[in-house]
Amino acid sequence: MRLLWSEPDRFLSEFRLFGTLKIMLKGRSLIEPGNFSLEEMANLFVLAEKIEKDEQYLRDSCRGKLLATLFFEPSTRTRLSFEAAMLRLGGSCLGFADPGSSSASKGESLADTIRMAASYADAIVMRNPKEGAALLASRYSPVPVINAGDGGHHHPTQTLTDLLTIFRLRGKIENITVGYCGDLKFGRTVHSLAKALARYKNIKMVFISPEELVVPEYITRRLKKQNIEFLETTSLEDSIPDLDVLYMTRVQRERFFNEEDYIRLKDTYVLNSEKMELAKKDLIILHPLPRVNEIAVEVDSDPRAAYFKQAKYGMYARMALLSSILGVI
Ligand code: CP
Repeated sequence: MRLLWSEPDRFLSEFRLFGTLKIMLKGRSLIEPGNFSLEEMANLFVLAEKIEKDEQYLRDSCRGKLLATLFFEPSTRTRLSFEAAMLRLGGSCLGFADPGSSSASKGESLADTIRMAASYADAIVMRNPKEGAALLASRYSPVPVINAGDGGHHHPTQTLTDLLTIFRLRGKIENITVGYCGDLKFGRTVHSLAKALARYKNIKMVFISPEELVVPEYITRRLKKQNIEFLETTSLEDSIPDLDVLYMTRVQRERFFNEEDYIRLKDTYVLNSEKMELAKKDLIILHPLPRVNEIAVEVDSDPRAAYFKQAKYGMYARMALLSSILGVI
């Protein structure tokens, strides 16, 4: 029986009935969202849901496997959720969270660091401030490399998390208007999600940012080529009534060259209860986190706020990913 990625809800119910899930990702790297087909992504969502609902499923399946986590930039969710995922699967982790404690600080090249990590571990997760660093790493690594963020470029496991959250909360990923709000220039989570969502049916996008932080032209050019309907605006109030998903992002201090510009732009958008009154009753609010001021704490208790749930889905998404690329499913 062939299951259809375009109908993930049917896909899921048929999987429950027939248990025909097959994951073909063994040994593969994940550098950007286009690396996996829609069918492979749908398989991962189904697997993540199964893991979430059955704590025993795949427990200890990665016993004896090692995951290297190489973080050249700070992280809470991505690193901890990868480590939690690997430990819950029965595997182990090694690595660094501070490049100052690695030999990169003595001038070792990324290629050599990767060769070393690959000789100790079965897979590598890496975050690096340089765009393209993950792709470079994958070229030197005989084991799978997972991009945990490369500068302002891509963050594909955040995208996997975001899509899984939409799938779990709506049952499907199609026929929706998605608004991205905040720093769309440097925001790698937005760049990855826009690229990934463009592959699904009838997706409309609204890019909400100050003029200085508009989404890069290469993204809007690609959307035009794909005939994806999109709008660029500076107004959150005007856009929010039309949205099914609102993806808030933080203005990232670490990407600015000039502190004055950061201070001027950082509080351009603050989602609060007043603005939420303008939104649909079934809006889904996502945020990759960390949050600074862009979502008022009062919104956390709104049933439409899904960002903490989203962070938890990130662990299940990463369990599904790791068990697949390590070939234990
Ligand atoms: N969403 C995300 O990448 O969070 P961290 O920077 O804490 O990993």
